[in-house]
Amino acid sequence: MNVSPKTTIAVTGASGQLGRLILKDLRKAAPEAEVIGLLRDPGKALDLAALGVVLRKADYEDPASLNEALRGVDRLVLVSSNEIGKRFAQHRNVIEAAKAAGVRLVVYTSLLHAPDSGLSLAPEHVQTEEALKASGLSYVILRNGWYTENYSDAIRQASQTGEFAGAAGEGRIASAARADYALAAAQAVLGAAKPGETLELAGDRAWTLGDLAVEIARFTGGPVVYKNLSVPKYAALLKAFGLPEAVADMLAGWEGEIVKGALDGQGETLRRLTGRPSTPLSETVAQLLKA
Ligand SMILES: NC(=O)c1ccc[n+]([C@@H]2O[C@H](COP(=O)([O-])OP(=O)(O)OC[C@H]3O[C@@H](n4cnc5c(N)ncnc54)[C@H](OP(=O)(O)O)[C@@H]3O)[C@@H](O)[C@H]2O)c1
Repeated sequence: MNVSPKTTIAVTGASGQLGRLILKDLRKAAPEAEVIGLLRDPGKALDLAALGVVLRKADYEDPASLNEALRGVDRLVLVSSNEIGKRFAQHRNVIEAAKAAGVRLVVYTSLLHAPDSGLSLAPEHVQTEEALKASGLSYVILRNGWYTENYSDAIRQASQTGEFAGAAGEGRIASAARADYALAAAQAVLGAAKPGETLELAGDRAWTLGDLAVEIARFTGGPVVYKNLSVPKYAALLKAFGLPEAVADMLAGWEGEIVKGALDGQGETLRRLTGRPSTPLSETVAQLLKA
């Protein structure tokens, strides 16, 4: 797919962490294209406007705003919403508006192994993938693995206290940095993925929470211990820290699925899209602890 000065590429979630990275990558990789950030509050992304990103107001809950925002858009990256439980209806609104606007390619950020995943996050992604396929739109599905940054709090806490807890045991986590998935999405919408492809994206080297403890200790120079608990005991610990019951159960439940392999994967497809190795765990740990 060629990019010309007339090509318009929009990205949802422009105020979010992944969306803004994708937009920055698009400005760098395709300076000739018109790059549009879609978001509820354009005031949240004035830094992107300064980089030449056009900002348009769009709320997943407001179909009229989506119809207006997608006018004249050729290609769209639909970054999945963070409003768990409402996401399928929100994504469906975007897909319907994209169809009405005549968008020629939709790239959707799904979840690693979505149809087979036991993670409670998976069903909304599967529903969205199915709606996208049924829409008749040309699509690329990027099934993203875990962001290494999901462990930011655990990494910071462990660097201070020398320990952190979880329930993922020997479960392998083939994570990559957000920046890796962002570059993959930018490249996919620029033509590195073929329309109709569904791609499983994961980092090059899978690790366990025990390996994470070793990396943190390597950076801090002090001992760091990973305490592995059962899923119910980890949920109870999270509740004792003040997390709402439903959130604690959800997070602990994910750890149980990690043990079963929900986040293990291979790095070659991500590497093919980005043209580089995924960011090593050690590098993300160092970046987080230096910040
Ligand atoms: N693979 C992983 O490890 C992982 C981890 C976390 C999340 N995710 C998924 O990947 C997505 C991107 O990650 P992220 O780190 O960029 O998440 P994030 O920083 O939380 O960004 C989420 C974006 O969704 C937008 N949004 C929420 N509700 C909306 C609505 N009704 N209308 C329009 N926009 C709405 C937010 O806009 P506002 O600024 O207006 O709230 C924000 O821009 C997440 O939303 C989630 O689906 C994946």
